[in-house]
Amino acid sequence: MAYTGEVQLLVWVSAAVILLTILVIAIMPFLSDYIHKWNIMRPIPGVSPCFPLIGNALQFKPSGRDFFCELAENTEKFRHLPLMKIWAGPVPFLILYHAETVEAILSTSKHMDKAFPYKFFHPWLGTGLLTSTGEKWRSRRKLITPTFHFTILSEFLEVMNEQSRILVEKLKKRLDEDAFNCFMDITLCALDIISETAMGKKIHAQSNSSSEYIQAIYKMSDILHRRQRLPWLWPNFLYSKLAEGKEHNKNLHILHSFTDTVIRERANIIKEQGLVEEQPSSDVYSSKSKKRNAFLDMLLSATDDSGNKLSYKDIREEVDTFMFEGHDTTAAAMNWSLYLLGSHPEVQRNVHKELDEVFGGFHVPKGVNALIIPYALHRDPEYFPEPEEFRPERFFPENISGRSPYAYVPFSAGLRNCIGQRFALMEEKVVLSTLLRNFWINASQKREELGLVGELILRPQAGIWIQLKDREEMLNKA
Ligand code: HEM
Ligand SMILES: *[C@@H]1O[C@H](CO)[C@@H](O)[C@H](O)[C@H]1NC(C)=O
Ligand SMILES: *[C@@H]1O[C@H](CO)[C@@H](O)[C@H](O)[C@H]1NC(C)=O
Ligand SMILES: *[C@@H]1O[C@H](CO)[C@@H](O)[C@H](O)[C@H]1NC(C)=O
Ligand SMILES: *[C@@H]1O[C@H](CO)[C@@H](O)[C@H](O)[C@H]1NC(C)=O
Repeated sequence: MAYTGEVQLLVWVSAAVILLTILVIAIMPFLSDYIHKWNIMRPIPGVSPCFPLIGNALQFKPSGRDFFCELAENTEKFRHLPLMKIWAGPVPFLILYHAETVEAILSTSKHMDKAFPYKFFHPWLGTGLLTSTGEKWRSRRKLITPTFHFTILSEFLEVMNEQSRILVEKLKKRLDEDAFNCFMDITLCALDIISETAMGKKIHAQSNSSSEYIQAIYKMSDILHRRQRLPWLWPNFLYSKLAEGKEHNKNLHILHSFTDTVIRERANIIKEQGLVEEQPSSDVYSSKSKKRNAFLDMLLSATDDSGNKLSYKDIREEVDTFMFEGHDTTAAAMNWSLYLLGSHPEVQRNVHKELDEVFGGFHVPKGVNALIIPYALHRDPEYFPEPEEFRPERFFPENISGRSPYAYVPFSAGLRNCIGQRFALMEEKVVLSTLLRNFWINASQKREELGLVGELILRPQAGIWIQLKDREEMLNKA
């Protein structure tokens, strides 16, 4: 009996040894890569204490606020060094905060792949413009760039104006009340703007913030940022079992069903009514505009380099990307701006003054004539100090550069500028240089004797009186 017991033990031990060996072999490549990186990066200063495998995870506490403060403090501490590192679990990150090191990353197409934490955006945003790389990114970027052309953007102005007016109406109710947190109001406005411009769909976020979609966007940003910071939430098979992972999937579903519906609706409208040109006013498409092109319309009709239409999934990932990137960022920027202006009344006063100069005061009825007075324009001391002094150096290339192209417009400017300006300059140069190669000119009138007459062009009342002298004689005199 004892004999069989020993055999059994032997079998168990060998099985355990074999299993352990397999496990070690399986994680060997990962382990040796990790040890290699750990050793090479040892001299780079980093946040301490730092432990094998868990890295700095203990200092970087779960709340986003602590994480950021800790990181910011450390960059100050290591400001005198070119860079520092942190270990997020077993994954090392170089932390950059000097122009020289940042240039090394941003100035080359070698480093265009997004870092590992962007992977957590993939379930939601797929590999849209923000998260994709390589050839896919290149062809998408080329496809999407024209959507941000000035003329298309100016069509969006109407949406932005309308939504800002709604925001003002909402905020008027708060006038002279106690302080309140404005962030959500700003965000909902930005959401309405991106939704109508990117998807051609009004979501009425400002009037109804309780929408599932809007709540889900919010939860999702939080959830993703937590996951990026906390290594134990990284493995997919574990994450989906946790309450947090379930919450993630629930919100993911809400977000995708919403964009799914919008894309279908829009695709159907285009199918039924042809492309956007004769779009009648409807709530799905924005109110008055006849041919505003939503970003989504462009995606629906676009073809890539090889002439293929974008797939449904391709379209959704770009729409999801733009819905997120296109409101979260601007909302935060406007929020911070309000904070800074609200904390610096003297700066705010200047902004108010500038706004009144641009918008306030003067209203101009439609159809009024505009008269540009070049004589006065060209004597603006802001651009031409001591304008009555004859100083041709004002027009040296180095003096022209940086000056508004509308400060000096003898040939007018823009669409209706003088078609003959090169001819004119050429003729003037030839005739004047020929005269001056033969004569010395002496003007007989003083400036105030000229008598300016503003006819179609500016003339001297009694003409220009000159004396001609021998050129060589005058030059030798001096
Ligand atoms: C204050 C406003 C904004 C700021 C500060 C900002 C900043 C940035 C930054 C820093 C990046 C590079 C991100 C990275 O390297 O991962 C980026 C990329 C991007 N942004 Fe913005 N952004 C703003 C507004 C917007 C808006 C309004 C949209 C869309 C309507 C948008 C869409 C995108 C997209 C699609 C990318 C990825 C581009 C690519 O990889 O080709 N952003 N933005
Ligand atoms: C607000 O949105 C919720 C959820 O989508 C919806 O049930 C409700 O009817 C909306 N309320 C208004 C006033 O539109
Ligand atoms: C918005 O700005 C306030 C300062 O006015 C700041 O406390 C708050 O954290 C900001 N919110 C976001 C989400 O950026
Ligand atoms: C124009 O440029 C010249 C040479 O660069 C400089 O000496 C002069 O002060 C400039 N004049 C004006 C009016 O800016
Ligand atoms: C040039 O004209 C002015 C004004 O008529 C006169 O005073 C001056 O003597 C003239 N100079 C020469 C060199 O003739």
